[in-house]
Amino acid sequence: MQHIAILGSTGSIGQHTLEVVRRFPEKFRVLGLSANSNIALLSRQVKEFRPCFVAIADSRAAEDFVSKFGAKGIRLFAGQHAAGEMVKDSRLDKVVVATSGSAALAPLLSAIESGKDIALANKEALVMAGPIIMRRARRKKVKILPIDSEQSAIWQCLDKQPSFKLKKIYLTASGGPFRQMPKEGLKKVSLRQVLDHPRWKMGKKISVDSATMMNKGLELLEAMFLFNVPAEKIKILIHPQAIVHSMVEFVDGSVLAQLSRTDMRIPIQYALSYPERLSNPLPGIDFYKLKELDFQSPDFKKFPCLGLALRVAAQLGTAPCVLNAANEACVEEFLKGKLRFTAIPEIIEKVLGRHHNRKEPVLEDILSADTWAKAQARRIIARSN
Ligand SMILES: NC(=O)c1ccc[n+]([C@@H]2O[C@H](COP(=O)([O-])OP(=O)(O)OC[C@H]3O[C@@H](n4cnc5c(N)ncnc54)[C@H](OP(=O)(O)O)[C@@H]3O)[C@@H](O)[C@H]2O)c1
Repeated sequence: MQHIAILGSTGSIGQHTLEVVRRFPEKFRVLGLSANSNIALLSRQVKEFRPCFVAIADSRAAEDFVSKFGAKGIRLFAGQHAAGEMVKDSRLDKVVVATSGSAALAPLLSAIESGKDIALANKEALVMAGPIIMRRARRKKVKILPIDSEQSAIWQCLDKQPSFKLKKIYLTASGGPFRQMPKEGLKKVSLRQVLDHPRWKMGKKISVDSATMMNKGLELLEAMFLFNVPAEKIKILIHPQAIVHSMVEFVDGSVLAQLSRTDMRIPIQYALSYPERLSNPLPGIDFYKLKELDFQSPDFKKFPCLGLALRVAAQLGTAPCVLNAANEACVEEFLKGKLRFTAIPEIIEKVLGRHHNRKEPVLEDILSADTWAKAQARRIIARSN
């Protein structure tokens, strides 16, 4: 029996993780759940999974949780540091990090520091502080098991081969909702169109990132840090069917790919059960019905976020953190209706242009670059409105 905590249990990945747990009650026991403010859903999850502890980041929501639902028999952690405190509990074996955005960094580091294996869905934390996270995980002998479907695919294909045996990684991308829209059309897209991803149903932040293709840029950086591979060896490949979740080419010319239906429960389950593979009732791929698997080059002109990600991948230091922070601020403002869709890369580029890169950052440098870049992005947006 594995004892787990799920950070971001009320989100898309969090809920899918609970579905996996529901299917294997003899394998996984949820000891901890955490959310930001969705206490209605959290309380239903608490009723069903009976965790020992719950973390709620929004202090007011935590108070409401106690007054509305009570917290009898549960240890409640509240406030900004709640999840980071919760994951220290010695009964936990593994922490699923499915919080969205940069808020995942502190609890992720705390879980690593207290020696818990990590099933990692969140990509922003790795983009911000990849080298620091991976160094600390190695020092603590903690496993980082990827949930993000592309990283899970690369991890499965690499299968412990050393990175110097690797020639190329083909990081696949469905192309998002605007793959076929002409560049000019992007100026007028609505929020509903942006959130309507053709292949995946996901949280709002990652849906916007998929539409701008920043998601693929973040994943490129994520793969660099997770697998210790330089950007030159990672090729982005548009694959609209989203069946091949990524591929790895080795020095002998062999290419291994991981294929599955587009269902996040598959990589989540593997990150939970690793190294074991557990059977599940999900339907497989019907190769007799699958007519084609297409692969195309990405359009860097139409999706400037890809070029910005490549630029920071060449710089490293605090630059990836700044890219991520500026993007996060832009997405937030876009979701509030305060920023045009096509202005997102423009603002990020301006913030990157003002940034003095710090080459070998320590955690404090990362945190201050994050704060600085978000403030810069918001200032530029406010001025332009
Ligand atoms: N969705 C996917 O298919 C998918 C695939 C690959 C990777 N990922 C990555 O997985 C992460 C989660 O994505 P998602 O789609 O599941 O997001 P989501 O549906 O928006 O859920 C986000 C979760 O994080 C919690 N949260 C948000 N801000 C927080 C804060 N400041 N402090 C504590 N908790 C906070 C939310 O709580 P409330 O509900 O209370 O707001 C919710 O539980 C992202 O980094 C994303 O890039 C997602």
